[in-house]
Amino acid sequence: MNIPVTQALIENKYRFSLSRINDALASCFDRQNPVTLYAPARYILEGKGKRIRPFLTLLASEAVCGSSENALHVALAVEVLHNFTLIHDDIMDQAELRHGRPTVHKQWNVNAAILSGDMMIAYAYELALKEKSNRHGELIHILNDANITICEGQALDMELEEKKDATITDYLDMIAKKTGRLISAALEAGGVAGNATDEQLQSLVLFGEKIGQAFQIQDDYLDIMAENGKSGKISGGDIINGKKTYLLLRSLELTSGADFDLVNSIIINKGISADRVPEVKAIYERCGVLEETASLINRNTEEALSAIDHLPYAEGREFLKGFANILMKRDF
Ligand code: IPE
Ligand code: IPE
Ligand code: MG
Ligand code: MG
Ligand code: MG
Repeated sequence: MNIPVTQALIENKYRFSLSRINDALASCFDRQNPVTLYAPARYILEGKGKRIRPFLTLLASEAVCGSSENALHVALAVEVLHNFTLIHDDIMDQAELRHGRPTVHKQWNVNAAILSGDMMIAYAYELALKEKSNRHGELIHILNDANITICEGQALDMELEEKKDATITDYLDMIAKKTGRLISAALEAGGVAGNATDEQLQSLVLFGEKIGQAFQIQDDYLDIMAENGKSGKISGGDIINGKKTYLLLRSLELTSGADFDLVNSIIINKGISADRVPEVKAIYERCGVLEETASLINRNTEEALSAIDHLPYAEGREFLKGFANILMKRDF
């Protein structure tokens, strides 16, 4: 008989996996020299990362009747790759804080941050090759494809900053690449480690694409709406930098008069001063964009849930669905 997969059970499993992943990550970069290469890698991995992607890798493996034990190295590979993207993303976004601590390029310098990130990419592939699997070629291909796609997404993100007539379609395409692909790759690689069929991999990828989109929209939402300090980033960093988020693009369509002028000035001036962030937040609160954002996240999550209806292991499937629901409501 299957035990019903309650929210408490999922949270327990997440907590358990989190400490397993963190323990393994803690011993990843034990070389000491050169210190400016390895210390930044250890530093970012010691931050309060949510470990969402490696957890999804483990769950995906189980949902296709594999074991999470067999997928652990792949999960670590995905997380190391993700943290490389964060180090370089913070340089690009000129971000000063991540999880409440100075970003790597602030703590050291830009060159050290670039180099540590580069090393972490190669390290991620090494971790994937440690997996006991006869499907290494597929695993490397998935990580490569994710890596190239993230670079495309980050390039589109930069181009969007310059584009005056950016549309919501442009934005959705950009986030599918910068964020969606690594989340879908985390699931796909977990599936491969669990020896999934092609059809099962397709379901996992679709699930990942949908929750990936919801996840980035939620990230944009939390960038300005998270309760004091909870995001661990500078509140409103995206609008200060003139980032074309869903909130910004849709509020351009929903506002008029002075509210429109202020929102539009963020586009024209490619950002706004930090002291005006509360005014923009107030516009978001009254123009209806927050409700629309919530319903877009909801819709994506519903579509994700139905994508995996046919995975073979019912309990594993329910864990994936339950975690998608938790992510949809996250405030962290
Ligand atoms: C941050 O990802 C980058 C995005 C794609 C939004 P996470 O929010 O998963 O960051 P960590 O892993 O918890 O640090
Ligand atoms: C992150 O997008 C995408 C990647 C790291 C590839 P953001 O720039 O919104 O991520 P945060 O908010 O800095 O974590
Ligand atoms: Mg950023
Ligand atoms: Mg960015
Ligand atoms: Mg963000």
